[in-house]
Amino acid sequence: MMKRIGLLFSLSGTISIVGEGQLQAALLAIEEINRSSPLTFDPLVGDDRSDPREAAKQAYSLFTEGKVDVLVGCYMSSVRNSVISALDETGGLLLYPTLYEGEQVHPNVFYLGAVPNQQVEPLLCWTFHNMSSNFVLVGSDYVYPRSSNRQVRRWVENGGGKVLLESYFPLGCTDFDKFFGDLRKLTKPHASAVIFSTLVGTSVPAFYTEVRRNGFSLPVVSPLTSEREMSLIGSEASSGHIVASPYFQTLDTVANRKFVEAFRLRFGNQPINREMMTTYGAMHLLAAAYERASAVPYGSTEAIKMRTVLKDLCFHGPQGKVIMDPATQHLWQWCHIGRINQEGLVDIVWSSPGPIPPRHDDPHPGITVLREDKESGWHKPSAPIGVNPRFLECVRMAQIAGKTSCNVLITGETGTGKGLLARYIHLISTRAVKPFEEISCPSIPRDLMESELHGYEGGAFTGARKTGKPGKFELGNGGTVFLDEIGEMPPDLQAHLLRVIEDKQIYRIGGTKAASVDIRFIAATNRNLSREMGKGGSFRRDLFYRLSVFHIHLPRLCERIEDIAALADHFLRICNSRAGMRKSFAPETLKLLEEYDWPGNVRELANVVERSFHLSLDSSRIRPDHLPEQICLHNTDGGVGARESASRRGERQDIAGKPPDGVERPNEIDRRRPPGPLDFSEGRLPKLEEVEEEIIRQALEKSWFNLSEAARLLGIGRSTLYRKLKRYSAERRPWPE
Ligand code: ACM
Repeated sequence: MMKRIGLLFSLSGTISIVGEGQLQAALLAIEEINRSSPLTFDPLVGDDRSDPREAAKQAYSLFTEGKVDVLVGCYMSSVRNSVISALDETGGLLLYPTLYEGEQVHPNVFYLGAVPNQQVEPLLCWTFHNMSSNFVLVGSDYVYPRSSNRQVRRWVENGGGKVLLESYFPLGCTDFDKFFGDLRKLTKPHASAVIFSTLVGTSVPAFYTEVRRNGFSLPVVSPLTSEREMSLIGSEASSGHIVASPYFQTLDTVANRKFVEAFRLRFGNQPINREMMTTYGAMHLLAAAYERASAVPYGSTEAIKMRTVLKDLCFHGPQGKVIMDPATQHLWQWCHIGRINQEGLVDIVWSSPGPIPPRHDDPHPGITVLREDKESGWHKPSAPIGVNPRFLECVRMAQIAGKTSCNVLITGETGTGKGLLARYIHLISTRAVKPFEEISCPSIPRDLMESELHGYEGGAFTGARKTGKPGKFELGNGGTVFLDEIGEMPPDLQAHLLRVIEDKQIYRIGGTKAASVDIRFIAATNRNLSREMGKGGSFRRDLFYRLSVFHIHLPRLCERIEDIAALADHFLRICNSRAGMRKSFAPETLKLLEEYDWPGNVRELANVVERSFHLSLDSSRIRPDHLPEQICLHNTDGGVGARESASRRGERQDIAGKPPDGVERPNEIDRRRPPGPLDFSEGRLPKLEEVEEEIIRQALEKSWFNLSEAARLLGIGRSTLYRKLKRYSAERRPWPE
């Protein structure tokens, strides 16, 4: 199978520093793919000359004359934006490999670079904490630096920092004399301040050289500067500055070592940067997608099939595991912060504990979960429960799905809350005033399923009601039909369902006319349907794709340890309000709840809380002895349960980048207490501030530099945290270390 692929890079002009490397990385990947798979890529290369107008022309010509379906490339946001009209007109796709300002979701673009919460925010926060809260903003004069700096300014000022100066330079500018003159008037060359740079292209090496030539020792901090630009200046001008990226050439992963070696073998000892790695990864991503797209049974064009498949891909690239967020078509990204060393490479000083999901809404959405009320059914979401990033991501996707009428597939273990999420999606949608019809697939008798779903006319069969009966589809018309445990649906009924979804028509048994229906289907299962599809499998592939326009996979409760206490409190509140009581958990009880494995997930937790509530009789405290035995015994003496628990946490932590399997968490009750009498003799204890600073540092890292979350973990207000951060950063020696 031969596929033409469009490559659109800046091979001339100011961005060619990066563009030439991207082309080489793309060609390397294409050679690898053409050697090792039945697929052959035939690349058509365009040069956008670092100019948005030229990019628009080239893109249009690649899609129409070149007949490509997919384009990989574009660096500057202005170039990406100019290409969008070609995407709209031709239906082609763009894989965009560059960090950008966020706030864009175009259905034909897959955003492979970072958005602000994945790179810029962690970098700012690290800088605030480790260097200074005084910022000088410099950028090239186009859309990305200006919109990014709007966010940076807000972030810095909200945090109690200062923006001393904000300057923009024309693309390709290499003369910074006036800027350094202005800066000298404002601040001393060795002051506690950082220069935050969103300069691009040939301006980058020129600027870094000028910083030192003008006698400034301020660090330049940049989410854009890469190994590529650094290679063009000597080590004196480049070393010590700070950069952030999902990828550095020095990243120590097996896949990266292979990539760097292959690149060097092919193109010699050149610096490799994130756009090159992303472009290389994009080609392999496309190869995998083309292979899968051939199995997609619907979709009128290749690009539409590719879009369906690309949304669902998750792969291991040189940067580590990469997950595509299907709702926004952005990647989860690692964030590494590093200091440039004498060789122009990067020594990593901080890494996110795992890939960070892309965030589009600001402020961070609170998560809300439905509340059960026996009298009035299910309420609209109210109390925010859950801060676990994977869970938040599920809710965010549910919120996006809620705004559409697309079908949704919710997967996850029994008890993880699939039914609740389905109702939540229904309630926040415009269908909320219409019915929510629930069908439990395993509990409808096999021979009645058709009449249950489609209904029947009077006298259609022996025993049928005279007046006939509407089926679940008819009852759910205009609203949502929830198909619980869809994996249990027999194959012939799957075919029926597929027809209803596709034709939007139902036929009552014994009837002669079809009736039109407008239904959103939400299906749920605890089975891995993708393993049960295909030849000999029990689930229809075409139905799976029809149902999983949005696919939300709910994490197990043991993968959301940080949410257990809040959920337990929530269930306890329900018990309290029913009984008119005000019970609370003893701290040791909550600890035990957090350490248990919860094979039955949230549902098991709800049951345990209710049982303990009743067992505690008149006591106002729910103590450990009110909990079921398996929970109390679970962690005593680091028994089997404890080890299993640690290892299950390890699975979660693999994703979140926390300690690997087998590394047990220290007992947190003990950790909070000093190990014994303290030794107060001179110099034996760390200073209180040092301990505080270390606790803050760890809270920031655990929260991926989300200040609100860090403040919550620390049990202090945001403004207190800002004040402390500011104090520690001011006390630190600014630069260089
Ligand atoms: C950019 O313009 N997105 C770097």
